[in-house]
Amino acid sequence: MSCSVVIGTQWGDEGKAKMIDYFTSNVDVVVRYQGGANAGHTVVVNNKKYVFHLIPSGMLHEGTVCVIGNGVVVDPIQLMEEIALLKAEGLKDVEKRLIISDAAHVILPYHKSQDAGMEELRDQKIGTTHRGIGPAYSDKCSRTGIRIGDIFDDDFLRERVTQALKIKNLQLDRVYGKSTYEVEDIIDSLIEFREKAGNMIKNTAHYLHTALENDKKILLEGAQGFGLDIDHGTYPYVTSSSPTIGGALLGTGLNSFNITDVIGITKAYVTRVGEGPFPTEDETDEGQRLRVNGGEFGATTGRPRRCGWFDIPLMKQTARINGLTSISLTKIDVLSGFSKIKVAVSYKVDGKVVDYFPSAQLRNVEPEYIELDGWKEDISKCKSFEDLPDNAQKYISFLEEKVGVKIGMLSVGPGREKTFKL
Ligand code: GDP
Ligand code: IMO
Ligand code: MG
Repeated sequence: MSCSVVIGTQWGDEGKAKMIDYFTSNVDVVVRYQGGANAGHTVVVNNKKYVFHLIPSGMLHEGTVCVIGNGVVVDPIQLMEEIALLKAEGLKDVEKRLIISDAAHVILPYHKSQDAGMEELRDQKIGTTHRGIGPAYSDKCSRTGIRIGDIFDDDFLRERVTQALKIKNLQLDRVYGKSTYEVEDIIDSLIEFREKAGNMIKNTAHYLHTALENDKKILLEGAQGFGLDIDHGTYPYVTSSSPTIGGALLGTGLNSFNITDVIGITKAYVTRVGEGPFPTEDETDEGQRLRVNGGEFGATTGRPRRCGWFDIPLMKQTARINGLTSISLTKIDVLSGFSKIKVAVSYKVDGKVVDYFPSAQLRNVEPEYIELDGWKEDISKCKSFEDLPDNAQKYISFLEEKVGVKIGMLSVGPGREKTFKL
């Protein structure tokens, strides 16, 4: 039995999809467990770039089954567009290899309007992706959500949509000053989705447990990252789901005994898109240099990503909370040419040193840095640890020792082949 979980350890965009694509050569099933089309997961194969928002990043491997788990919030329009795009690219059997949970909630146009409306009313913006994520998860918790399986029962669907719009239209009109929606239009769009995608919809918890019983290898694909977790992240500047290990169980129906390893995907520096605390952010020319060298612009919204330095307290916390068994370190090639590389080793809060990631008072955190010597060489063609310049080797060993988790894989470029074991 094998079920690995891949988790973003910082604020998302760590290079999860690139690593998932790499790991997929050894697995049978790849499963998204939370989030929605707020994710932008990039895979580059033979210089061709694919960006996934809802479909698991393992889809490029023919023969792999991809599952959208019950914890995901699914925008049917976005999903059908993504399927059409992959088919147009020549990918085989996309629909035959995709399974969508009947217990996943749908994102409807009113969720996106509400997402925009809430951001407009916020004095302190979160900087959401406007994909309707927060409102869809809120509806799930307040039990006004619509689940994918609801579309198979016409009467029930009508009841659910009518009930949802009764509340939603009042909110949209009176609170947010937005247009309202007609029950019939929403139902029609969901019936159209049923006609196109009905065959792909299943009980995915049952499917996954059966797959494990039949010795299939499963990989769970996290979206976002630790710092964006609704419980453990920098609340309220977070997403509305649990990208961490708990979300992997909830969002698939697998149990903790099924999990064999937990792989943290970690960028060799740190980025964040949207608002919120980012203790090691560098707003000087050095941060700008990271942004340009690393091509740090959002895969979903195109926004420039905020950039900064590796953060040990953040990483120690994410290692503990997720039970990381190894780390895949990505984008270390981006650091070539920096004469000094900063690493935050501890924080000071109100003048006192703390070596953990506080859950409150993050605005008052001052990171304490040490500087390591950099390297000049382009390392994007390196194929082993021994190929790397001494200072790059020292940087990796330093991070590994301080975080206390083995760095098992290194990524030195966006392409599938630019990956090696340590
Ligand atoms: P994800 O959301 O965690 O899957 O990451 P994104 O796809 O949003 O962002 C990662 C970006 O970095 C993408 O453009 C990748 O193609 C690129 N990338 C991934 N790994 C590496 C690497 O090791 N080096 C470089 N230079 N780029 C990488
Ligand atoms: P991947 O999977 C980086 C951020 C948004 C915003 C906050 C809340 O590609 O790593 P939301 O739309 O979820 O309500 O926005 O979360 N955010 C991400 N940042 N990578 C992501 O996904 C993100 N998904 C959401 O920028 O700050
Ligand atoms: Mg991304």
